[in-house]
Amino acid sequence: MDTITPAPRDTGWTIDSWRNCPIKQVPTYPDQGALEAMEARLTKYPPLVFAGEARNLKAALARAASGQAFVLQGGDCAESFGDFTANVIRDTFRVLLQMAVVLTFGGRMPVVKLGRMAGQFAKPRSSDTESLGEVTLPSYRGDIINGPDFTAASRTPDPARMEFGYFQSAGTLNLLRAFASGGYADLHQVHRWNLDFVANSPLAERYQDLATRIDETLGFMAACGLTSADTPQIRETDFYTSHEALLLPYEQALTRQDSTTGEYYACSAHFLWIGDRTRQADGAHVEFMRGIRNPIGMKVGPSMQADDLLRIMDVLDPENEPGRLTLIARMGADKVADKLPPLLRAVKAAGRTPVWMCDAMHGNGITTAAKVKTRRFDAIMAELRGFFDAHEAEGTVAGGAHLEMTGQNVTECVGGARGLSEEDLGARYETFCDPRLNAEQSLELAFYLAEGLKNRRAGRAAK
Ligand code: PEP
Ligand code: CO
Repeated sequence: MDTITPAPRDTGWTIDSWRNCPIKQVPTYPDQGALEAMEARLTKYPPLVFAGEARNLKAALARAASGQAFVLQGGDCAESFGDFTANVIRDTFRVLLQMAVVLTFGGRMPVVKLGRMAGQFAKPRSSDTESLGEVTLPSYRGDIINGPDFTAASRTPDPARMEFGYFQSAGTLNLLRAFASGGYADLHQVHRWNLDFVANSPLAERYQDLATRIDETLGFMAACGLTSADTPQIRETDFYTSHEALLLPYEQALTRQDSTTGEYYACSAHFLWIGDRTRQADGAHVEFMRGIRNPIGMKVGPSMQADDLLRIMDVLDPENEPGRLTLIARMGADKVADKLPPLLRAVKAAGRTPVWMCDAMHGNGITTAAKVKTRRFDAIMAELRGFFDAHEAEGTVAGGAHLEMTGQNVTECVGGARGLSEEDLGARYETFCDPRLNAEQSLELAFYLAEGLKNRRAGRAAK
Protein backbone atom coordinates (compact mmCIF):
# COMPACT_ATOMS: atom_id res chain seq x y z
CA MET A 1 0.00 0.00 0.00
CA ASP A 2 1.93 3.03 -1.19
CA THR A 3 -0.63 5.80 -1.21
CA ILE A 4 -2.71 6.65 1.81
CA THR A 5 -6.31 7.28 0.87
CA PRO A 6 -9.28 7.86 3.19
CA ALA A 7 -11.59 4.90 3.81
CA PRO A 8 -14.61 5.38 1.53
CA ARG A 9 -17.28 6.15 4.11
CA ASP A 10 -15.13 7.62 6.81
CA THR A 11 -13.95 11.08 5.89
CA GLY A 12 -11.02 12.25 7.92
CA TRP A 13 -9.76 8.76 8.72
CA THR A 14 -6.58 7.52 7.16
CA ILE A 15 -4.59 4.44 8.00
CA ASP A 16 -2.21 6.63 10.01
CA SER A 17 -4.51 9.39 11.28
CA TRP A 18 -4.05 7.90 14.78
CA ARG A 19 -0.53 9.32 14.74
CA ASN A 20 -1.97 12.84 15.20
CA CYS A 21 -3.91 11.91 18.34
CA PRO A 22 -2.84 11.73 21.98
CA ILE A 23 -1.67 8.20 22.69
CA LYS A 24 -1.26 6.13 25.84
CA GLN A 25 0.76 3.01 26.57
CA VAL A 26 3.38 3.57 23.85
CA PRO A 27 6.76 1.93 24.16
CA THR A 28 9.79 4.17 23.66
CA TYR A 29 11.83 2.62 20.87
CA PRO A 30 15.40 3.89 21.09
CA ASP A 31 16.00 3.47 17.35
CA GLN A 32 13.24 5.17 15.33
CA GLY A 33 14.90 4.18 12.05
CA ALA A 34 14.75 0.49 12.98
CA LEU A 35 11.09 0.87 13.94
CA GLU A 36 10.21 2.48 10.62
CA ALA A 37 12.15 -0.15 8.69
CA MET A 38 10.24 -2.91 10.48
CA GLU A 39 6.89 -1.25 9.80
CA ALA A 40 7.78 -0.98 6.11
CA ARG A 41 8.75 -4.65 6.06
CA LEU A 42 5.55 -5.87 7.74
CA THR A 43 3.46 -3.76 5.39
CA LYS A 44 4.61 -6.05 2.57
CA TYR A 45 3.94 -9.33 4.38
CA PRO A 46 0.82 -11.38 3.58
CA PRO A 47 -2.23 -10.70 5.76
CA LEU A 48 -2.89 -13.30 8.47
CA VAL A 49 -6.65 -13.25 7.99
CA PHE A 50 -8.74 -11.92 5.16
CA ALA A 51 -11.67 -9.53 5.04
CA GLY A 52 -14.29 -12.16 4.15
CA GLU A 53 -13.53 -14.05 7.35
CA ALA A 54 -13.87 -10.90 9.43
CA ARG A 55 -17.24 -10.27 7.77
CA ASN A 56 -18.39 -13.80 8.62
CA LEU A 57 -17.45 -13.21 12.24
CA LYS A 58 -19.32 -9.89 12.19
CA ALA A 59 -22.44 -11.71 11.00
CA ALA A 60 -22.04 -14.30 13.77
CA LEU A 61 -21.63 -11.54 16.35
CA ALA A 62 -24.76 -9.83 15.03
CA ARG A 63 -26.62 -13.03 15.91
CA ALA A 64 -25.10 -12.94 19.39
CA ALA A 65 -26.26 -9.34 19.85
CA SER A 66 -29.84 -10.37 19.21
CA GLY A 67 -29.67 -13.48 21.42
CA GLN A 68 -29.36 -16.04 18.61
CA ALA A 69 -25.81 -17.06 19.52
CA PHE A 70 -23.39 -16.85 22.45
CA VAL A 71 -19.76 -15.76 22.25
CA LEU A 72 -16.96 -17.54 24.07
CA GLN A 73 -13.74 -15.54 23.98
CA GLY A 74 -10.77 -17.01 25.80
CA GLY A 75 -7.06 -17.64 25.94
CA ASP A 76 -3.88 -16.37 27.54
CA CYS A 77 -3.56 -12.97 29.13
CA ALA A 78 -0.34 -12.76 27.12
CA GLU A 79 1.04 -15.28 24.66
CA SER A 80 4.77 -15.71 24.95
CA PHE A 81 7.60 -16.42 22.53
CA GLY A 82 9.03 -19.01 24.94
CA ASP A 83 5.80 -21.00 25.12
CA PHE A 84 5.29 -21.39 21.39
CA THR A 85 4.57 -25.12 21.05
CA ALA A 86 1.95 -27.26 19.37
CA ASN A 87 0.81 -28.66 22.72
CA VAL A 88 0.07 -25.25 24.22
CA ILE A 89 -1.96 -24.23 21.17
CA ARG A 90 -3.74 -27.57 20.98
CA ASP A 91 -4.67 -27.67 24.64
CA THR A 92 -6.18 -24.18 24.74
CA PHE A 93 -8.08 -24.85 21.52
CA ARG A 94 -9.33 -28.14 22.94
CA VAL A 95 -10.65 -26.66 26.17
CA LEU A 96 -12.40 -23.87 24.26
CA LEU A 97 -14.13 -26.49 22.11
CA GLN A 98 -15.06 -28.55 25.15
CA MET A 99 -16.58 -25.49 26.78
CA ALA A 100 -18.39 -24.57 23.58
CA VAL A 101 -20.11 -27.96 23.37
CA VAL A 102 -21.45 -27.57 26.90
CA LEU A 103 -22.62 -24.02 26.19
CA THR A 104 -24.21 -24.93 22.88
CA PHE A 105 -26.22 -27.57 24.62
CA GLY A 106 -27.16 -25.34 27.56
CA GLY A 107 -28.16 -22.41 25.36
CA ARG A 108 -29.52 -24.44 22.44
CA MET A 109 -27.72 -22.05 20.18
CA PRO A 110 -24.45 -21.69 18.30
CA VAL A 111 -21.37 -20.62 20.23
CA VAL A 112 -19.03 -18.21 18.47
CA LYS A 113 -15.51 -19.33 19.34
CA LEU A 114 -12.98 -16.55 19.60
CA GLY A 115 -9.45 -17.29 20.84
CA ARG A 116 -7.25 -14.73 22.59
CA MET A 117 -4.64 -16.42 20.43
CA ALA A 118 -2.35 -15.96 17.43
CA GLY A 119 -1.40 -12.36 18.25
CA GLN A 120 -2.26 -11.59 21.91
CA PHE A 121 1.18 -10.26 22.82
CA ALA A 122 1.10 -6.56 23.74
CA LYS A 123 0.15 -5.60 27.30
CA PRO A 124 -0.93 -2.29 28.83
CA ARG A 125 0.84 -1.54 32.11
CA SER A 126 -0.14 0.58 35.08
CA SER A 127 3.38 2.00 35.34
CA ASP A 128 5.97 2.78 32.64
CA THR A 129 8.78 1.55 34.84
CA GLU A 130 9.49 -1.16 37.38
CA SER A 131 11.99 -0.88 40.24
CA LEU A 132 13.83 -3.66 42.03
CA GLY A 133 16.09 -2.35 44.80
CA GLU A 134 18.09 0.51 43.32
CA VAL A 135 17.44 -0.45 39.72
CA THR A 136 14.62 1.05 37.62
CA LEU A 137 13.88 -0.34 34.16
CA PRO A 138 11.05 -0.02 31.62
CA SER A 139 8.07 -2.26 32.46
CA TYR A 140 7.60 -5.48 30.55
CA ARG A 141 4.98 -4.75 27.85
CA GLY A 142 4.58 -8.16 26.23
CA ASP A 143 6.89 -10.25 24.06
CA ILE A 144 6.08 -8.33 20.88
CA ILE A 145 7.63 -5.23 22.51
CA ASN A 146 10.30 -6.27 25.03
CA GLY A 147 11.37 -9.22 27.20
CA PRO A 148 10.24 -10.16 30.72
CA ASP A 149 13.75 -10.57 32.23
CA PHE A 150 14.72 -7.75 34.54
CA THR A 151 17.77 -6.58 32.60
CA ALA A 152 18.26 -3.38 30.62
CA ALA A 153 18.85 -5.34 27.41
CA SER A 154 15.71 -7.41 27.76
CA ARG A 155 13.49 -4.49 28.75
CA THR A 156 14.55 -2.24 25.85
CA PRO A 157 11.76 -2.20 23.23
CA ASP A 158 13.00 -3.90 20.07
CA PRO A 159 11.10 -3.63 16.75
CA ALA A 160 12.54 -6.98 15.59
CA ARG A 161 10.14 -8.58 18.07
CA MET A 162 7.22 -7.50 15.86
CA GLU A 163 8.47 -9.75 13.10
CA PHE A 164 8.79 -12.70 15.46
CA GLY A 165 5.26 -11.94 16.71
CA TYR A 166 3.99 -11.96 13.15
CA PHE A 167 5.54 -15.34 12.38
CA GLN A 168 4.43 -16.86 15.67
CA SER A 169 0.89 -15.65 14.93
CA ALA A 170 1.08 -17.19 11.44
CA GLY A 171 2.29 -20.52 12.87
CA THR A 172 -0.39 -20.55 15.55
CA LEU A 173 -3.14 -19.64 13.13
CA ASN A 174 -1.99 -22.33 10.71
CA LEU A 175 -2.34 -25.01 13.37
CA LEU A 176 -5.70 -23.64 14.57
CA ARG A 177 -7.05 -23.75 11.03
CA ALA A 178 -5.84 -27.34 10.64
CA PHE A 179 -7.43 -28.37 13.94
CA ALA A 180 -10.71 -26.62 13.13
CA SER A 181 -11.22 -28.30 9.78
CA GLY A 182 -8.98 -31.38 9.81
CA GLY A 183 -10.99 -33.71 12.06
CA TYR A 184 -9.58 -32.78 15.48
CA ALA A 185 -12.67 -30.71 16.34
CA ASP A 186 -15.16 -33.55 15.71
CA LEU A 187 -18.09 -33.13 18.08
CA HIS A 188 -18.03 -36.74 19.22
CA GLN A 189 -14.39 -36.53 20.12
CA VAL A 190 -14.86 -33.25 21.99
CA HIS A 191 -17.72 -34.78 23.91
CA ARG A 192 -15.59 -37.82 24.84
CA TRP A 193 -13.02 -35.45 26.36
CA ASN A 194 -15.83 -33.89 28.38
CA LEU A 195 -16.92 -37.31 29.65
CA ASP A 196 -13.34 -37.86 30.86
CA PHE A 197 -13.41 -34.52 32.60
CA VAL A 198 -16.69 -35.31 34.34
CA ALA A 199 -15.51 -38.76 35.39
CA ASN A 200 -12.42 -37.28 37.05
CA SER A 201 -14.00 -34.20 38.58
CA PRO A 202 -14.68 -33.96 42.30
CA LEU A 203 -18.07 -32.56 41.22
CA ALA A 204 -18.79 -35.50 38.91
CA GLU A 205 -22.29 -35.98 40.26
CA ARG A 206 -23.30 -32.43 39.57
CA TYR A 207 -22.09 -32.53 35.94
CA GLN A 208 -23.14 -36.07 35.12
CA ASP A 209 -26.70 -35.19 34.21
CA LEU A 210 -25.78 -32.62 31.57
CA ALA A 211 -23.06 -34.90 30.14
CA THR A 212 -25.49 -37.81 29.92
CA ARG A 213 -28.06 -35.70 28.09
CA ILE A 214 -25.47 -34.55 25.54
CA ASP A 215 -24.41 -38.17 25.12
CA GLU A 216 -27.97 -39.26 24.43
CA THR A 217 -28.49 -36.45 21.96
CA LEU A 218 -25.38 -37.38 19.99
CA GLY A 219 -26.45 -41.03 20.01
CA PHE A 220 -29.87 -40.08 18.73
CA MET A 221 -28.38 -37.90 15.98
CA ALA A 222 -26.10 -40.76 14.90
CA ALA A 223 -29.08 -43.13 14.79
CA CYS A 224 -30.79 -40.64 12.49
CA GLY A 225 -27.79 -40.75 10.16
CA LEU A 226 -26.16 -37.47 11.22
CA THR A 227 -22.54 -38.61 11.47
CA SER A 228 -19.12 -36.99 11.09
CA ALA A 229 -18.63 -38.69 7.76
CA ASP A 230 -21.42 -36.84 6.03
CA THR A 231 -22.13 -33.82 8.24
CA PRO A 232 -19.48 -31.06 8.17
CA GLN A 233 -21.18 -29.30 11.12
CA ILE A 234 -20.26 -32.31 13.27
CA ARG A 235 -16.77 -32.75 11.88
CA GLU A 236 -15.59 -29.13 11.66
CA THR A 237 -15.91 -25.84 13.45
CA ASP A 238 -15.39 -22.11 12.92
CA PHE A 239 -12.70 -20.65 15.09
CA TYR A 240 -11.68 -16.99 15.09
CA THR A 241 -8.70 -15.10 16.53
CA SER A 242 -8.53 -11.88 18.52
CA HIS A 243 -6.20 -9.67 20.52
CA GLU A 244 -5.96 -6.23 22.07
CA ALA A 245 -5.08 -3.65 19.43
CA LEU A 246 -2.48 -1.96 21.57
CA LEU A 247 0.65 -1.79 19.45
CA LEU A 248 -0.59 0.49 16.68
CA PRO A 249 2.54 0.55 14.48
CA TYR A 250 2.13 -3.24 14.14
CA GLU A 251 -1.62 -3.02 13.56
CA GLN A 252 -1.25 -0.32 10.93
CA ALA A 253 1.41 -2.34 9.12
CA LEU A 254 -0.96 -5.32 8.90
CA THR A 255 -4.00 -3.33 7.80
CA ARG A 256 -4.99 -3.86 4.19
CA GLN A 257 -7.50 -2.35 1.79
CA ASP A 258 -10.01 -5.04 0.81
CA SER A 259 -10.06 -5.44 -2.94
CA THR A 260 -13.77 -6.26 -3.12
CA THR A 261 -15.13 -3.36 -1.05
CA GLY A 262 -12.26 -0.84 -0.96
CA GLU A 263 -12.56 -0.77 2.82
CA TYR A 264 -9.78 -1.23 5.36
CA TYR A 265 -9.43 -4.35 7.48
CA ALA A 266 -6.93 -5.06 10.21
CA CYS A 267 -5.50 -8.37 9.01
CA SER A 268 -3.55 -9.35 12.14
CA ALA A 269 -6.68 -11.08 13.56
CA HIS A 270 -10.39 -11.38 12.89
CA PHE A 271 -11.39 -9.32 15.92
CA LEU A 272 -9.50 -6.59 17.76
CA TRP A 273 -10.43 -4.84 20.96
CA ILE A 274 -9.57 -1.59 22.71
CA GLY A 275 -8.35 -2.04 26.28
CA ASP A 276 -9.74 -0.28 29.32
CA ARG A 277 -6.70 2.02 29.53
CA THR A 278 -6.72 3.21 25.92
CA ARG A 279 -10.39 3.90 25.23
CA GLN A 280 -10.30 7.74 25.25
CA ALA A 281 -12.77 9.13 22.68
CA ASP A 282 -10.13 11.47 21.20
CA GLY A 283 -7.22 9.07 21.65
CA ALA A 284 -5.09 7.27 19.07
CA HIS A 285 -6.52 3.79 19.69
CA VAL A 286 -10.13 4.83 19.16
CA GLU A 287 -9.07 6.81 16.08
CA PHE A 288 -7.36 3.80 14.51
CA MET A 289 -10.17 1.39 15.33
CA ARG A 290 -12.98 3.56 13.97
CA GLY A 291 -11.62 3.22 10.44
CA ILE A 292 -11.13 -0.53 10.19
CA ARG A 293 -14.16 -2.56 9.20
CA ASN A 294 -13.51 -5.68 11.33
CA PRO A 295 -15.84 -6.47 14.17
CA ILE A 296 -14.25 -4.73 17.16
CA GLY A 297 -14.55 -4.75 20.94
CA MET A 298 -14.05 -2.28 23.72
CA LYS A 299 -13.46 -3.01 27.39
CA VAL A 300 -15.86 -1.21 29.69
CA GLY A 301 -14.59 -0.88 33.26
CA PRO A 302 -16.26 0.55 36.36
CA SER A 303 -15.09 4.12 35.68
CA MET A 304 -17.07 4.31 32.43
CA GLN A 305 -19.96 6.79 32.52
CA ALA A 306 -23.02 6.31 30.33
CA ASP A 307 -22.61 9.57 28.37
CA ASP A 308 -18.95 8.81 27.63
CA LEU A 309 -19.88 5.34 26.51
CA LEU A 310 -22.49 6.64 24.09
CA ARG A 311 -20.05 9.22 22.73
CA ILE A 312 -17.40 6.56 22.02
CA MET A 313 -20.03 4.28 20.49
CA ASP A 314 -20.96 7.10 18.10
CA VAL A 315 -17.34 7.28 17.01
CA LEU A 316 -16.71 3.53 16.72
CA ASP A 317 -20.06 2.47 15.31
CA PRO A 318 -21.84 5.50 13.84
CA GLU A 319 -24.21 3.34 11.81
CA ASN A 320 -25.18 0.96 14.62
CA GLU A 321 -24.08 -1.83 12.34
CA PRO A 322 -25.09 -5.32 13.52
CA GLY A 323 -22.10 -7.23 14.91
CA ARG A 324 -19.71 -4.30 14.59
CA LEU A 325 -19.23 -3.49 18.27
CA THR A 326 -18.84 -5.73 21.31
CA LEU A 327 -18.78 -4.11 24.73
CA ILE A 328 -16.73 -6.23 27.10
CA ALA A 329 -17.83 -5.29 30.61
CA ARG A 330 -15.21 -5.94 33.32
CA MET A 331 -16.62 -4.41 36.45
CA GLY A 332 -15.58 -6.84 39.19
CA ALA A 333 -17.90 -9.09 41.17
CA ASP A 334 -18.43 -6.43 43.82
CA LYS A 335 -19.37 -3.66 41.36
CA VAL A 336 -21.27 -5.35 38.56
CA ALA A 337 -24.71 -4.97 40.17
CA ASP A 338 -24.18 -1.18 40.61
CA LYS A 339 -22.20 -0.24 37.55
CA LEU A 340 -23.58 -2.36 34.74
CA PRO A 341 -27.36 -1.68 34.80
CA PRO A 342 -27.12 2.10 34.15
CA LEU A 343 -24.95 1.39 31.10
CA LEU A 344 -27.30 -1.31 29.81
CA ARG A 345 -30.21 1.10 30.21
CA ALA A 346 -28.50 4.03 28.47
CA VAL A 347 -27.31 1.91 25.56
CA LYS A 348 -30.75 0.38 25.11
CA ALA A 349 -32.47 3.79 25.34
CA ALA A 350 -30.14 5.05 22.60
CA GLY A 351 -31.48 2.31 20.34
CA ARG A 352 -28.13 0.54 20.17
CA THR A 353 -27.62 -3.20 20.08
CA PRO A 354 -23.97 -4.07 20.70
CA VAL A 355 -22.91 -7.51 21.82
CA TRP A 356 -22.60 -7.33 25.61
CA MET A 357 -19.91 -9.64 26.85
CA CYS A 358 -18.70 -10.27 30.41
CA ASP A 359 -14.96 -10.25 31.06
CA ALA A 360 -15.12 -11.92 34.45
CA MET A 361 -11.36 -11.69 34.99
CA HIS A 362 -9.96 -8.17 34.95
CA GLY A 363 -12.15 -6.68 37.69
CA ASN A 364 -11.33 -9.55 40.03
CA GLY A 365 -7.57 -9.46 40.47
CA ILE A 366 -6.20 -9.75 44.00
CA THR A 367 -2.72 -10.05 45.50
CA THR A 368 -2.09 -12.64 48.21
CA ALA A 369 -0.17 -11.95 51.42
CA ALA A 370 2.79 -13.65 49.70
CA LYS A 371 2.45 -11.02 46.89
CA VAL A 372 1.18 -13.42 44.21
CA LYS A 373 -1.37 -12.08 41.71
CA THR A 374 -4.40 -14.34 41.62
CA ARG A 375 -8.18 -14.41 41.11
CA ARG A 376 -10.80 -16.27 43.07
CA PHE A 377 -12.92 -18.73 41.10
CA ASP A 378 -15.92 -17.70 43.21
CA ALA A 379 -15.49 -14.04 42.29
CA ILE A 380 -15.33 -14.94 38.59
CA MET A 381 -18.56 -16.95 38.93
CA ALA A 382 -20.18 -14.15 40.94
CA GLU A 383 -19.42 -11.55 38.28
CA LEU A 384 -20.91 -13.80 35.60
CA ARG A 385 -23.99 -14.30 37.73
CA GLY A 386 -24.30 -10.53 38.27
CA PHE A 387 -23.91 -9.99 34.54
CA PHE A 388 -26.69 -12.44 33.64
CA ASP A 389 -28.95 -11.00 36.37
CA ALA A 390 -28.45 -7.42 35.16
CA HIS A 391 -29.38 -8.36 31.60
CA GLU A 392 -32.38 -10.29 32.79
CA ALA A 393 -33.60 -7.27 34.79
CA GLU A 394 -33.01 -4.76 31.98
CA GLY A 395 -34.39 -6.89 29.17
CA THR A 396 -31.07 -6.89 27.30
CA VAL A 397 -29.02 -9.80 25.97
CA ALA A 398 -26.12 -11.39 27.87
CA GLY A 399 -24.17 -12.17 24.72
CA GLY A 400 -20.89 -13.74 25.75
CA ALA A 401 -18.12 -14.48 28.21
CA HIS A 402 -14.48 -13.40 28.00
CA LEU A 403 -11.97 -15.45 30.01
CA GLU A 404 -8.25 -15.73 30.62
CA MET A 405 -7.63 -19.45 30.54
CA THR A 406 -5.26 -22.11 29.34
CA GLY A 407 -5.43 -25.78 28.52
CA GLN A 408 -2.44 -26.37 30.79
CA ASN A 409 -2.80 -27.68 34.29
CA VAL A 410 -1.53 -24.49 35.94
CA THR A 411 -2.23 -23.21 39.46
CA GLU A 412 -2.87 -19.50 39.05
CA CYS A 413 -6.49 -18.90 40.17
CA VAL A 414 -7.65 -20.09 43.59
CA GLY A 415 -10.81 -22.13 44.20
CA GLY A 416 -12.78 -24.39 41.90
CA ALA A 417 -13.82 -27.99 42.53
CA ARG A 418 -10.31 -29.01 43.60
CA GLY A 419 -10.24 -26.14 46.06
CA LEU A 420 -6.86 -24.73 44.98
CA SER A 421 -5.53 -22.69 47.89
CA GLU A 422 -3.10 -19.78 48.03
CA GLU A 423 -0.41 -22.23 49.14
CA ASP A 424 -1.00 -24.29 45.97
CA LEU A 425 -0.26 -21.32 43.69
CA GLY A 426 3.48 -22.01 43.80
CA ALA A 427 3.15 -25.45 42.16
CA ARG A 428 2.63 -24.34 38.55
CA TYR A 429 2.37 -20.57 38.32
CA GLU A 430 3.45 -19.90 34.74
CA THR A 431 1.63 -16.86 33.40
CA PHE A 432 3.61 -13.95 31.98
CA CYS A 433 0.90 -11.57 33.00
CA ASP A 434 -2.48 -12.17 34.68
CA PRO A 435 -3.53 -15.45 36.37
CA ARG A 436 -5.51 -17.83 34.16
CA LEU A 437 -8.12 -20.47 34.81
CA ASN A 438 -6.66 -23.93 34.20
CA ALA A 439 -8.36 -26.53 31.99
CA GLU A 440 -10.42 -28.01 34.80
CA GLN A 441 -11.53 -24.67 36.20
CA SER A 442 -12.49 -23.49 32.70
CA LEU A 443 -14.68 -26.51 32.10
CA GLU A 444 -16.28 -26.17 35.47
CA LEU A 445 -17.15 -22.63 34.57
CA ALA A 446 -18.68 -23.77 31.28
CA PHE A 447 -20.95 -26.24 33.07
CA TYR A 448 -21.97 -23.43 35.36
CA LEU A 449 -22.52 -20.99 32.48
CA ALA A 450 -24.64 -23.54 30.66
CA GLU A 451 -27.09 -23.24 33.53
CA GLY A 452 -27.18 -19.44 33.07
CA LEU A 453 -27.89 -19.90 29.39
CA LYS A 454 -30.61 -22.42 30.11
CA ASN A 455 -32.26 -19.90 32.43
CA ARG A 456 -31.89 -17.16 29.84
CA ARG A 457 -33.72 -19.43 27.40
CA ALA A 458 -36.38 -20.26 29.93
CA GLY A 459 -36.83 -16.56 30.82
CA ARG A 460 -37.30 -15.66 27.20
CA ALA A 461 -39.72 -18.52 26.56
CA ALA A 462 -41.81 -17.34 29.52
CA LYS A 463 -42.17 -13.79 28.12
C1 PEP B 1 -6.61 -7.82 29.12
O1 PEP B 1 -7.65 -8.18 28.56
O2 PEP B 1 -5.61 -8.57 29.25
C2 PEP B 1 -6.56 -6.47 29.73
C3 PEP B 1 -5.43 -5.84 29.96
O3 PEP B 1 -7.78 -6.02 30.05
P1 PEP B 1 -8.29 -4.54 30.44
O4 PEP B 1 -7.94 -3.63 29.29
O5 PEP B 1 -9.76 -4.74 30.59
O6 PEP B 1 -7.63 -4.16 31.73
CO1 CO C 1 -5.10 -9.89 31.39
